[in-house]
Amino acid sequence: MTTEPHIAGRAPVAVDVEAGKTYAWCACGNSKKQPFCDGSHGGTAFSPVVRKAEKSETVYFCMCKHSGNKPFCDGSHEKV
Ligand code: FES
Ligand code: FES
Repeated sequence: MTTEPHIAGRAPVAVDVEAGKTYAWCACGNSKKQPFCDGSHGGTAFSPVVRKAEKSETVYFCMCKHSGNKPFCDGSHEKV
């Protein structure tokens, strides 16, 4: 079983989230609908990080999947 996530990208992606809407961030890196989960984590040790947006704003989702503040980018992509 894979324990390291696939690096989907080396820079975050900006998304305008809507208050009250739920977002499922892909933790495994295999989704074809990055940065969100499309179910491709099946058979891996990963499951999506689900968060409800508290307000409408622009957030930066991690694409390298190594952030220390998942699902958001914390700059860790510089080191992976
Ligand atoms: Fe990656 Fe679901 S597809 S966590
Ligand atoms: Fe920046 Fe992953 S994209 S920490």
